[in-house]
Amino acid sequence: MMRTSKRLDSVHEYYFSQKLREIDTLNKQGKNIINLGIGSPDMPPHEDVINTLNVESRKPDVHAYQNYKGSPALRNAFANWYKEWYKTELNAETEVLPLIGSKEGIMHICMTYLNEGDEVLVPNPGYPTYRSAVQLAGGVCINYELNESNNYYPDFNTLEKTDLSKVKLLWANYPHMPTGQQASINVFEQLIAFGKKHDILICHDNPYSFILNDSPLSILSVKGAKDVALELNSLSKSHNMAGWRVGVLCGAQERINEVLRFKSNMDSGMFLPVQLAAAKALSLDKTWYNSVNAVYKKRREKMYELLDILKCNYSIQQSGMFIWAKIPKKFENGYALSDKVLYESNVFITPGGIFGSGGDKYVRLSLCATEQKIQEAVNRVKTVF
Ligand SMILES: Cc1ncc(COP(=O)(O)O)c(C=O)c1O
Repeated sequence: MMRTSKRLDSVHEYYFSQKLREIDTLNKQGKNIINLGIGSPDMPPHEDVINTLNVESRKPDVHAYQNYKGSPALRNAFANWYKEWYKTELNAETEVLPLIGSKEGIMHICMTYLNEGDEVLVPNPGYPTYRSAVQLAGGVCINYELNESNNYYPDFNTLEKTDLSKVKLLWANYPHMPTGQQASINVFEQLIAFGKKHDILICHDNPYSFILNDSPLSILSVKGAKDVALELNSLSKSHNMAGWRVGVLCGAQERINEVLRFKSNMDSGMFLPVQLAAAKALSLDKTWYNSVNAVYKKRREKMYELLDILKCNYSIQQSGMFIWAKIPKKFENGYALSDKVLYESNVFITPGGIFGSGGDKYVRLSLCATEQKIQEAVNRVKTVF
């Protein structure tokens, strides 16, 4: 038998990859499951983006390996995007590194900075990839708890009392997935001050700031942030381009070069027409974001109906493409409710526990399904609950 590496012992198959197999089996049995689990936008990118890919990919000279740092057109587009929407100045040449999706950036950062045994503060609940990337890189995760009573913001009093001597990095993410908590400039300032005080690299992951959110915020807009923070961003959600795999890492020149030292050994650049199409996407005006959000708003209203039938509690102030909702007391945890909904109503919703113990009493519903699908889910759930 081939033994896998020790580093793989700490991570398991991604929950969704397992669950999608189960859903596939149920579908083969004719169940026709409505999937309200995954946050993969079901709408297409803007037509001009697709046209750009189309036109550019027909050219004969765009098919070679590309620059490891990304094309100047894309780097400039990211810098302009940050200036326009986040009021944040970035040097396109030195402070912007395009990525093949932001998920790879999480791994690159961990591989660039962590040694065996280094500790990393990760949000609980939070995106599971922070945890697995830290562990794959040999680091040790220390949870910091996010509670509804504190608006899912870090509790800096508790953090200050924690032994931080081995902590090298902190992962943060606002608007927060899975809770939908919006960003706050005050919290960003506190994070930057905390990073500076304790010499901890603050890694902020920002893929949701354009979804159901009127004021996109970047942690890099805080004065002096680049001294201690990096930010990941993505076109997956904001531009309906999840499958295209385009993200970005922004930060100080030294940090970008350090991460590039690792990344340039992992891939060989991104297809130029994809980069040029992404640059086009980044130049879209407010009409684009408004059109995407108009659809999510309508879906959200329908989703509230479904949550009311399930007797779940939720805030109507959430940003991002999910609704985070507290389950009724009669269910032991979100897994129990999710299983009942799956096996009895043929609808899949995500149990909050996959985001850490802090999500045990919650479920997460994705807005990446048409209104008709959500209506059908409402009809199905109504007959059981
Ligand atoms: C919080 C968070 N960060 C990062 C990602 C990864 O996004 P990308 O498609 O840019 O790799 C996701 C995707 O679901 C996410 O929810």
